[in-house]
Amino acid sequence: MTNKTIFITGASSGIGKETAKYFAEKGWNVAATMRKVTEVNELLKYPNIKLYVLDVQDEHSINLALEAAIQDFGSIDVLYNNAGYALAGAFEALSQEQIQHQFATNVFGVMNMTRAILPHFRAKKSGVIINTTSTGGIITFPLYSIYNSTKWAIEGFMESLQFELKQFNIKIKNIEPATVKSNFESSISFVSNPDYDNYAKKVQHNMLASYKNAPAATTIAPVVFKAANSNNNQLRYPVGQAKVAFFMQWLLPLNLFKKIIASGLEKEIR
Ligand SMILES: NC(=O)c1ccc[n+]([C@@H]2O[C@H](COP(=O)([O-])OP(=O)(O)OC[C@H]3O[C@@H](n4cnc5c(N)ncnc54)[C@H](OP(=O)(O)O)[C@@H]3O)[C@@H](O)[C@H]2O)c1
Repeated sequence: MTNKTIFITGASSGIGKETAKYFAEKGWNVAATMRKVTEVNELLKYPNIKLYVLDVQDEHSINLALEAAIQDFGSIDVLYNNAGYALAGAFEALSQEQIQHQFATNVFGVMNMTRAILPHFRAKKSGVIINTTSTGGIITFPLYSIYNSTKWAIEGFMESLQFELKQFNIKIKNIEPATVKSNFESSISFVSNPDYDNYAKKVQHNMLASYKNAPAATTIAPVVFKAANSNNNQLRYPVGQAKVAFFMQWLLPLNLFKKIIASGLEKEIR
């Protein structure tokens, strides 16, 4: 058993929820946060999990949830920035409002959380910030220009932050999954317009097909646990197929690598 506490965003489903369960089973305290807390929630059967309302776009809700969790558990050892979703589609088909909402959640949400936790971690002279970025935070996919740019932004933001936070013994860890079964797939909003329709239909079909054999969200939790307990400064934790993709990207000329990505996602629907 440990007295350590992890604070998780986006714990209502998928990776966040499974990670909350995993850490609770390992004896950690878990502050599981979500936009809507109801009295019926599977996580409530764990005595060491408490639920808090938090929207990563709402700084007031962030401060309230952090204060309450510190009050309940004494302190926080790990912040897990996990909340996020994918906006997909041809860039020209996406409205400025949709793009701003994507960045407000995936990028500014992570910055809001990080800004809010840092005084606590600096005062303790320790802490770990873990982020669910993505394979798409290192490589790109068709019709994912906006989602990819949010995850690339987090990779760059966190890689730079590592420099200034090392002096406070604050570690940064990026978890980079490939496709994972969760609510993510069904909540991807594929936006199109007539000029891109044929292309978008193919890519959407092939992209969603790639989720059929995707591993369960439970496969990510042990990697988050390893990152939370790590004593070194390893930043990146690719998971599953991400390892293969990153190796191929390193090995091959960019144009050839992109051809391989396109051959899978732009192929005709049979
Ligand atoms: N599944 C994949 O294939 C995959 C691959 C690579 C990376 N990822 C990343 O993994 C992370 C978790 O996704 P998942 O696969 O577990 O999907 P998921 O089941 O859809 O979970 C996403 C979580 O984010 C929450 N969320 C969305 N907007 C939020 C906001 N403004 N404030 C607070 N919470 C918010 C959702 O809450 P609500 O229930 O309130 O909507 C939900 O709890 C995301 O960052 C995603 O980009 C997923």
